[in-house]
Amino acid sequence: MEQKRYGHFDDQHREYVITDPQTPWPWINYLGNEDFFSLISNTAGGYSFYKDAKFRRITRYRYNNVPMDNGGRYFYIKDGDTVWNPGWKPCKTPLDFYECRHGMSYTRITGKKNGVEASVLFFVPLKKWCEVQKLTLKNESSETKSLKLFSFEEWCLWNAATDMENFQRNFSTGEVEIENSTIYHKTEYRERRNHYAFYHVNAPIQGFDTDRETFVGLYNEFADPQAVMEGKPRNSHAHGWSPIASHYIEVTLKPGESKDFVFLLGYIENEQDEKFEAPQVINKKKAHALIAELDTTEKVDKAFAELCALWDNLLNIYKVKTGNDKLDRMVNIWNQYQCMVTFNFSRSASFFESGVGRGMGFRDSNQDLVGFVHQIPPRARQRIIDIASTQFPDGGCYHQYQPLTKRGNNDIGGGFNDDPCWLIFGTVAYIKETGDFSILDEMVPFDNQPGTEVTLFEHLKISMDHVIKNLGPHMLPLIGRADWNDCLNLNCFSWDPNESFQTTENVSEGTKAESLMIAGLFVVTGKDYVALCQKLGKNDEAARMQKAVDAMIEAVKKHGWDGEWYLRAYDFYGRKIGSNENDEAKIFIESQGWCTMAEIGAEDGMVAKSLDSCKKYLECEHGMVLNNPAFSKYIYEYGEISSYPEGYKENAGIFCHNNPWVIIGECIAGRGNDAWSHYAKILPSYVEEKYQTLHKVEPYVNCQMVAGKDAFRPGEGKNSWLTGTAAWMWYTVSEFILGIKPDYDGIRIDPCLPETANDYTVQRKFRDAEYEITIHPNGAQKGVKSITLDGKPVDGTVIPYSAGKHTVEVTM
Ligand code: BGC
Ligand code: NOJ
Repeated sequence: MEQKRYGHFDDQHREYVITDPQTPWPWINYLGNEDFFSLISNTAGGYSFYKDAKFRRITRYRYNNVPMDNGGRYFYIKDGDTVWNPGWKPCKTPLDFYECRHGMSYTRITGKKNGVEASVLFFVPLKKWCEVQKLTLKNESSETKSLKLFSFEEWCLWNAATDMENFQRNFSTGEVEIENSTIYHKTEYRERRNHYAFYHVNAPIQGFDTDRETFVGLYNEFADPQAVMEGKPRNSHAHGWSPIASHYIEVTLKPGESKDFVFLLGYIENEQDEKFEAPQVINKKKAHALIAELDTTEKVDKAFAELCALWDNLLNIYKVKTGNDKLDRMVNIWNQYQCMVTFNFSRSASFFESGVGRGMGFRDSNQDLVGFVHQIPPRARQRIIDIASTQFPDGGCYHQYQPLTKRGNNDIGGGFNDDPCWLIFGTVAYIKETGDFSILDEMVPFDNQPGTEVTLFEHLKISMDHVIKNLGPHMLPLIGRADWNDCLNLNCFSWDPNESFQTTENVSEGTKAESLMIAGLFVVTGKDYVALCQKLGKNDEAARMQKAVDAMIEAVKKHGWDGEWYLRAYDFYGRKIGSNENDEAKIFIESQGWCTMAEIGAEDGMVAKSLDSCKKYLECEHGMVLNNPAFSKYIYEYGEISSYPEGYKENAGIFCHNNPWVIIGECIAGRGNDAWSHYAKILPSYVEEKYQTLHKVEPYVNCQMVAGKDAFRPGEGKNSWLTGTAAWMWYTVSEFILGIKPDYDGIRIDPCLPETANDYTVQRKFRDAEYEITIHPNGAQKGVKSITLDGKPVDGTVIPYSAGKHTVEVTM
């Protein structure tokens, strides 16, 4: 069925163009690349923060509001009696034209009404702590226009959690200063904070407001603020309550005339002894300097060009030309972009993650690395060290850490027994990309305690050992609180709705449940670890670990096979989970993915059978579900997984993150047709063509979950943007489908394609080399017959690394 469309891709500009503001859900974008970040919806909703969405929230946002997506950076234009916004919201005055272009770290929203065009370009300049909002007003009519322009931002009192709770204090602490066209927000600056924010415009203003109730009116809304509706700013000065920032500017435009205004939302930190320029008056030196860097259209355009150049460079590292636009645009643009955003934010702040609940995930960040490491390797390096620094001496991990402090946080506890393995996964990917083995010699502490430092290699070793030292009755890895599936809480046993499934544990009797997912993950990362040790000449250690890997493979073959697929787990009582013997959830995807990637029992046909079972029992129109059939009731021995209604989230949703595991399993097995058909089902560009309305969330990125076949509305997407799916989709397509795989000594070429694939070319920058690789599939799904490097034949499938430009021809 053809569905209504709300937008389309513009590949040439690397933009998604939204043409109707009333998208089925706010379709958002991210601004900022390093310290200052913003979320922005297609109607300019959202907020900004510095580094940490919980502890350093700059502007206020109300999640799950009515109407949805309420609050943002709003420009109100009063033209006679008509008040409108370029992004349609919040006034929702019907526009004569609307367009939102989400691009690479910028968004441009344009509205037209009664002969006036208002176009706003939003972005965060490189290395600067501010959001630029360049507003261009243009008179397209034949009469002179006298417009009243009001800007609007609402300050958050820094800690996004207490900002929404602690009103007995909050309503008395708010403080601002106003200086010419700049409004400063300095709540709590008088005491322990050494930071403030400001909102500036590079033009004289004819009025302002800083007190929300005065500007909006207690019984009015963002859609009809009194000051705007009456066309009269109040020049209010906030003391307590809710401070805001609004500039008022009178603009006259002759026919054809246009004017630019640069609005800046900035963030400043001062040293303790330089906080004030006079008693109670904040030191504005740094703010003035920042403003001076961006106070003209020319300076802003230059900063924007620098941002665009950064993205040109980032997206020039891996570029494919297959002739299939839908594939090319995901590989060359959107998948890589989503990887960068996910790397920056982990799972902290989206329109589904409030920014207060979660820090950076240990396992999440390690996986995100793989989607990003080719772009800015030094940042990946730093991330590995930050993550490893939160590890415990026994190899166990905090599940999360806070980006501002880089300390482990205990909100979701620890003891997720898959966590340690991911450190190997991330580190190996980093070394293969860069050839930088020196990272292994970095001295890295435990739990951030100075004096506890050991080498990063030692951290990898204890990570492997953590699995080996925590084996259960079947010699399979103990699951701990949970493995990758946070909701498979097999040692939890909770009847109390006020308990968290992730932190509650049946400690009295110990933990006995075992995970086949960790078993597969251990074999995959164990093989990587062994190869790394060999590379380093640590042959004893390689042999020791090879033995453990072999033992794990035997344990899976003996205790982890159900006849047609791999089991998922053993519960606390040693009963099978994910078995034909179970009434529900007879098969799970995670163990199929990891055990097929590990090729456990391939020689006995186990891999092929497992992959076939995924097609038979898990696959549906929108992808592969996590388990089948869904749980229809709560099982207290299993924990959160069975708390979800059928077809959602971890209970038989299509958890996009793990589909690539099976796809890689297919690729390793050489089944290119199957790999491709699974891949295309969850590839956003294919979904956008067919299911814009049903899918609901942004059509240019993957979402964490699509409702599965047992759900009420199969195909509906949720939790867009921040998901390990991004990195896994990238890893799958770049390394396993298109087959360009970084290795210690060069690039391994091993594509796995549908038999209909045409010739294609990949341009790959790799360390100091640049390869142009053309693949001739000749109808084969797998198997490289011959490779030439600069015209000369290469033995095997690895092109040896050497700096400079090279041409590679591959025949399959
Ligand atoms: C979600 C998981 C998530 C976990 C920890 C659960 O409710 O379903 O996807 O990882 O919470 O935040
Ligand atoms: C989301 C979490 O961020 C991730 O770590 C976890 O693996 C999945 N949910 C599955 O539960």
